[in-house]
Amino acid sequence: MLIGDVNINGIAALAPMAGVTDRAFREICAMFGAAYFTSEMISTKGIIYGSQKTFSLSDRSDSEYPFALQLFGNDPKDFSEAIKILGDRIPEIIDINMGCPATKIVKENSGSALMKTPELCGEIVYAAKSVSPVPITVKIRSGWSESTINAPTVAKICEEAGASAITVHGRTKQQGYSGSCDQEVIKAVKKAVKIPVIGNGDITSAKNANEMINFTNCDMVAIGRGAMGNPWIFSEINSLYTGEKFNFPSIDEKINIMKLHIEKLCEYKGEHRGLTEARKHLSCYVKDVKNASEIRQKIFSSKYKTELLDIIENIQ
Ligand SMILES: Cc1cc2nc3c(=O)[nH]c(=O)nc-3n(C[C@H](O)[C@H](O)[C@H](O)COP(=O)(O)O)c2cc1C
Repeated sequence: MLIGDVNINGIAALAPMAGVTDRAFREICAMFGAAYFTSEMISTKGIIYGSQKTFSLSDRSDSEYPFALQLFGNDPKDFSEAIKILGDRIPEIIDINMGCPATKIVKENSGSALMKTPELCGEIVYAAKSVSPVPITVKIRSGWSESTINAPTVAKICEEAGASAITVHGRTKQQGYSGSCDQEVIKAVKKAVKIPVIGNGDITSAKNANEMINFTNCDMVAIGRGAMGNPWIFSEINSLYTGEKFNFPSIDEKINIMKLHIEKLCEYKGEHRGLTEARKHLSCYVKDVKNASEIRQKIFSSKYKTELLDIIENIQ
């Protein structure tokens, strides 16, 4: 599949999740065949004000390829200015967030609030596209609320303004993460535009990835929460299409990946923050292991890296 002139070699992308899909986790998902990566969302204003913390969210490794940097904001001028400032940091693709439901984001008319003003969505894409050396994509929800579902309209407007692909999460802003993903909306978006459509929402196995592709006719799927503690989901999905045999990871393989994940987080974020973030991931990795709740308790009460590694090594 092509996004603009960027070739995506596979059908399963890692969906962006602020606070989760950082460089460490993206690298782990790359090891298991994720075909496309997006940064955590980055504020256009943060870039314009020169915040180092904001810039650090664009750090990536070579294994995360192709990589999109995701921007959020509410003003077309901010998008073009931020893209100019990013300069050499611009990766293969720039994605625009039109789906975040978080109160502090929508209060500023960013994220999913943009879907209330489809023309502004088009103006933002146009402004970004005018200055960007790489393709522009957008990530939307089904709409703001049940009574204002407008993803096909927003997608069409963004396509006309120059977007090269659309990711659709089949929930409204009002749903947040409750209820279930509406695949009809993804199907309607796919019918409305000619550019590639990436379907997103509630994929937790190769079986339901395949069902979404068959039902909606989307070109790719993006997996968010279903990859937490299960980066193997990408190999599992790929195996459906390559015919290669997929084996669920043994406990030893899981342990090795958990240890690697801890090491990467500590390397990129320092030990204190790395361990805090590792605990959240580890509690997902141990979901199906024997004595999961006891192990989780130990994980959350551990203080040092050696202690945490010891708990992981002793999982049976
Ligand atoms: C903790 C968390 C953080 C998220 N952060 C972002 C984000 O930064 N940008 C974005 O476009 N979507 C974000 N999302 C939405 C996901 O990309 C995805 O659309 C949503 O979780 C549905 O897919 P899933 O069911 O596969 O998780 C986030 C979701 C979660 C749970």
